[in-house]
Amino acid sequence: VGVLTGAMTRVDRHHAAALDRADSLASRVDEFVVDDPGLVYFDGNSLGRLPRRTAARLRRLVDDEWGSDLVRGWGRWIELPTRVGDRIGRVLLGAAPGQVAVCDSTTVNLYKLAAAALDARPDRRVIVTDDGNFPTDRYVVQGLAKARGLELRQVATHPVDGVQPEAVEAAADADVGLVTFSHVDFRSGAIVDVAALTDLAHRAGALALWDLSHAAGAVPAELDAWEVDLAVGCGYKYLNGGPGAPAWLYVRAGLQDRLVPPVWGWFGQADQFEMGPAFEPAEGMRRWLAGTPPVLGLAAVDEGVAMLEDVGMEAVRAKGVALTGYAQSLWSAWLERLGFTLGSPADAALRGSHLALCHPEAFRLRQALIAEAGVVPDFRGPDILRIGLAPLSTRFVEVWDGFDRLRDLARDEAWTRYDVAPGRVT
Ligand SMILES: Cc1ncc(COP(=O)(O)O)c(C=O)c1O
Repeated sequence: VGVLTGAMTRVDRHHAAALDRADSLASRVDEFVVDDPGLVYFDGNSLGRLPRRTAARLRRLVDDEWGSDLVRGWGRWIELPTRVGDRIGRVLLGAAPGQVAVCDSTTVNLYKLAAAALDARPDRRVIVTDDGNFPTDRYVVQGLAKARGLELRQVATHPVDGVQPEAVEAAADADVGLVTFSHVDFRSGAIVDVAALTDLAHRAGALALWDLSHAAGAVPAELDAWEVDLAVGCGYKYLNGGPGAPAWLYVRAGLQDRLVPPVWGWFGQADQFEMGPAFEPAEGMRRWLAGTPPVLGLAAVDEGVAMLEDVGMEAVRAKGVALTGYAQSLWSAWLERLGFTLGSPADAALRGSHLALCHPEAFRLRQALIAEAGVVPDFRGPDILRIGLAPLSTRFVEVWDGFDRLRDLARDEAWTRYDVAPGRVT
């Protein structure tokens, strides 16, 4: 964010255009389907844009593979969950092959891994998470605690800086079997120190399960080096796998023989096509598959990750840091005086690729942004406009346009034109 020329100031649109010209990833935006060039899309961290190569791959898959090969296609498709998993491990997670599979939703994968981890610690009565963790993560462990008569300890999440190590240290005693948090906070974007918190869990004798949904594809991870036990993440955010794309799960190699999934399905069976009388878990990651893999979604995730592989996570992260840094400078130039506070860590190195802007009328401002300004952010209660800046598909000029329109709507108190009743999807 350092390209200032002549009389240009940071808040000029020309400056944003100069940043785009200096950006080695700028042309990547053209690799996505952009149906409406006027639309400002600040929600690539909720549903990533459609890559052109994915649309082409899905067309080929539908016409040539499904259309022509029919059931014979399974000879190839059957390897997709672990093949795509290995690519995710290599490109996004710092994971050696044989530790990642792509299947089910993040919620279901959280359940499978948490249940198996608790089974492996039968003498432990406590699960630790944080009260600001993503709802599905909290619900999954609430359900497990209720079904098994365990205690759920929820440490307080700092609203801006995320989970605090001191709080985890205080909660992680010798009764704890499982500790589970998110790498990047879904509200504030705060990055937590996965290695340090995993180490705290290990010192208490617990297993650590991480949700990387808001990190993978935006913030590099080193799961092997961090000695993470278990991890999950979504396929449709920065991986661009499309609505309802399957999720991934990671199980550290050294743990794989010791954990048995709670869902015994035929795709996890050692000799699947023997159709034998009793379940015997397959070696390696295949045991985590339950039913038939969603081939179209898997192919889409594969293409999204291939794109990230072409660019490399270092460059992706550098662009993400530059985008949130630029957005932060526009917030401080225009929005702070209009009543917006920064709900993310002020240091770009400590946050993922989204920025939380807090405003008492965030809910109705989001409606105004969508209806009147062609800007699509997320709302996260009670007062957050969440600005997702997907590194591969966002230009600096798009950030400028979105903030310019937001400033005008806020000045105009545009929220007075909208209803306060929430809809089904926020
Ligand atoms: C951090 C986090 N975990 C889990 C999920 C839920 O994933 P799914 O609905 O695919 O199970 C989401 C969805 O946005 C998320 O942001």
